[in-house]
Amino acid sequence: MDIRFQNLGPDRWKGDILLAPACQGDVLPSCCPQLDKAVPWLAVAPALRDFTGKKEELLLLHGQPELPIPRVLAVGLGRRETVDCNIVRNTIANAVRFCHKRGYVSLVLPEALLAPLPGGKERLLEECICTAQLALYRFTKLKKPDPDDTPVPQWLAVAFDRPETSDAGKAAALRGETAAKAVTLARDFAAMPPNYLSPAILAERANELAQEKGLACTVLDEEALRSEGMGCLLAVGKGSSRPPRLIVLEHVPAGCEQDPPLILVGKGITFDSGGICLKPAANMHQMKADMTGAAVVLATLTALAEEHISNRVVGLLACADNMPSGAAMRPGDVVCAANGDNVEIQNTDAEGRLALCDALTFAQKHWTPAAIVDIATLTGACAVALGSQLAGIFCDDAALTDRIRAAGGVSGEEYWPLPLWKPYNESLKSEVADICNTGPREGGAINAALFLQHFVQKGVRWAHLDIAGVDWAAKATPLTPVGPTAFGVRTLLNLARGGVQ
Ligand code: BES
Ligand code: MN
Ligand code: ZN
Repeated sequence: MDIRFQNLGPDRWKGDILLAPACQGDVLPSCCPQLDKAVPWLAVAPALRDFTGKKEELLLLHGQPELPIPRVLAVGLGRRETVDCNIVRNTIANAVRFCHKRGYVSLVLPEALLAPLPGGKERLLEECICTAQLALYRFTKLKKPDPDDTPVPQWLAVAFDRPETSDAGKAAALRGETAAKAVTLARDFAAMPPNYLSPAILAERANELAQEKGLACTVLDEEALRSEGMGCLLAVGKGSSRPPRLIVLEHVPAGCEQDPPLILVGKGITFDSGGICLKPAANMHQMKADMTGAAVVLATLTALAEEHISNRVVGLLACADNMPSGAAMRPGDVVCAANGDNVEIQNTDAEGRLALCDALTFAQKHWTPAAIVDIATLTGACAVALGSQLAGIFCDDAALTDRIRAAGGVSGEEYWPLPLWKPYNESLKSEVADICNTGPREGGAINAALFLQHFVQKGVRWAHLDIAGVDWAAKATPLTPVGPTAFGVRTLLNLARGGVQ
């Protein structure tokens, strides 16, 4: 679905159907003077009397078929005091799905209807456009088209009063579109079956995207990883016939060459079987999405480049395939991390932190980061603690925590702080090496975060986002079908747009 603009005034708006979100008690069309001009028949449409504006109410109204706008979908938002951005998001998503089901191909959304809602017109518009796109998301790359499927809408037009007033709205809508494209890209990567996506293929795709968008891209293959001393990332990939890669993406706006970059680090396990500590079979297929962190970072960087964001950002994708085999790392193995510390591997299923720790070292060796934010489907324990709607944030820097939570919150990605509880470092001590890759089951998400923190030098601003649990939708919602959600793209994009300060 394309995003278009109609800014010649309400009497020139045109499309199959106009979406009219309204709160309980709002009287359509008189609550919005533009509607009288765009759909003059609405005032006398008898069915409108049935519309109450209750949350999730959808009422389809018909005018004469030959009119420029022959239909209105009145969309209930509920009581004005209770309306928030999430309600608007879900409501618009439901409305767009409704239009899809009915086969309406051209949609009109008047920005004037968003103006009276809480949250700010431009922000809401950005969210509505992003949401409208995501509501239609499906992973269709490997499926024959179903002849019974109705076609997806061709376009959605944001409708403005006058051209003079449309600049800010247009920019907001385009931000929403860029965000939706990035989320779609990341979902497609995460949904891609593991036999289609190895570390090397991911690197190739990242390279192509980088060329296309104007990002610098460097890929470290096995040999380069060895010369960087990345014994942990290499250990994770040892059991697979598909060797690991570290993918480096750089967005350097002109004049920002000397700025300390924001560095985003993503966990890119293209398949997590658990390795020798093999996972149970049930739901193991979902571990194709164990590279969601990397997909999120890649998608964020492409969006930044596309938007010509004026902040310097580096993306590091730590990619490996975690498989059991005669060549695989074993529980009990000791490997040397890129920072020179020996790491005892007690559980080969705690592979994400091994991949990430070397990327964290790399980040600090090659740059002076303004901040490092890593994002990873790291621990089942985090999913157990926070459920499917909240990601964990581990960060000792209150300002950075607030920035990230705000950046995510405005787009419906919520983080809950979990502690980097120093005394638990005791449990990561090893009898034979400098540190062990697992602690006890209890506090599993914290132990993993503390392991990562071990590789972050004092004074470096760092946040760790554990997205296990939110990366995969077990049930469909208006905003995502069952499968990968690409949670984190909106957060990191908003963060990079605003800078970390
Ligand atoms: N990728 C998993 C974590 C995960 C679990 C992500 C469920 C998404 C959904 C991670 O590599 C893992 O296996 N972690 C182990 C750590 C343990 C062995 C210390 C876990 O959480 O069980
Ligand atoms: Mn694992
Ligand atoms: Zn994993």
